[in-house]
Amino acid sequence: MEKRQELYAGKAKSVFRTDDPDKMVLVFRDDTSAFDGKRIEQLDRKGMVNNKFNAFIMTKLQEAGIPTHFEALLSDNEALVKNLDMMPVECVVRNVAAGSLCRRLGVEEGVTLTPPTFELFLKNDALGDPMINESHVESFGWAKAEDLAKAKALTYKVNDVLKAIFAEGGMILVDYKLEFGLYKGEVLLGDEFSPDGCRLWDAKTKEKLDKDRFRQGLGGVIEAYEDVGRRIGIDFDA
Ligand code: C5P
Repeated sequence: MEKRQELYAGKAKSVFRTDDPDKMVLVFRDDTSAFDGKRIEQLDRKGMVNNKFNAFIMTKLQEAGIPTHFEALLSDNEALVKNLDMMPVECVVRNVAAGSLCRRLGVEEGVTLTPPTFELFLKNDALGDPMINESHVESFGWAKAEDLAKAKALTYKVNDVLKAIFAEGGMILVDYKLEFGLYKGEVLLGDEFSPDGCRLWDAKTKEKLDKDRFRQGLGGVIEAYEDVGRRIGIDFDA
């Protein structure tokens, strides 16, 4: 496999073509962005930490029967993935109220949500990723109803698998965002799963161990990501 030209540079990752049209290379950079890219900083080791974190989680999800685009870890900062036709939507599941849900609905942070809520957002920087519903996805042709239904079911299945993994490490999976795409007609989990795209709190102290540390200027961002990783069995030196 040979890495070819850059196809796309996102806020924290870049995507490269390979000599195989079905495969891409994801490069995890040290860039960290918040507030729709209005704040961007370089955090030392972040690319490596998120790449290894994502590889570990994607492997666990695959073992649990959730199809993902992940193929292999290529280096500290690179992963080989399948080339998906991405749905332009973000699927969010929340177990505990935090972030935009609290701002939108005036709910207090920390309220347990039973059952967990499912939300959809349109991936559109210019519009600030507005919240949408399943009917919008179908009417505007962003995905077929049956494919969205599969993505939603997989998003909930991920919750069962990951809540248990983080609970064993003494943490609460508060919420997370997933993205899906099509590969040869099959709906696969794409993008990444790392503390950049989820909220994790220490179960006892409720200390924030995710990107909210960056958003809220709490410091110790990468130290927290590494702590989370070690608590679920990731060896960042491997
Ligand atoms: O901001 P909000 O509370 O809606 O975020 C819900 C979850 O989705 C959080 O875990 C957040 O990190 C994640 N998210 C993301 N990328 C976005 C928006 C939200 O990873 N563009």
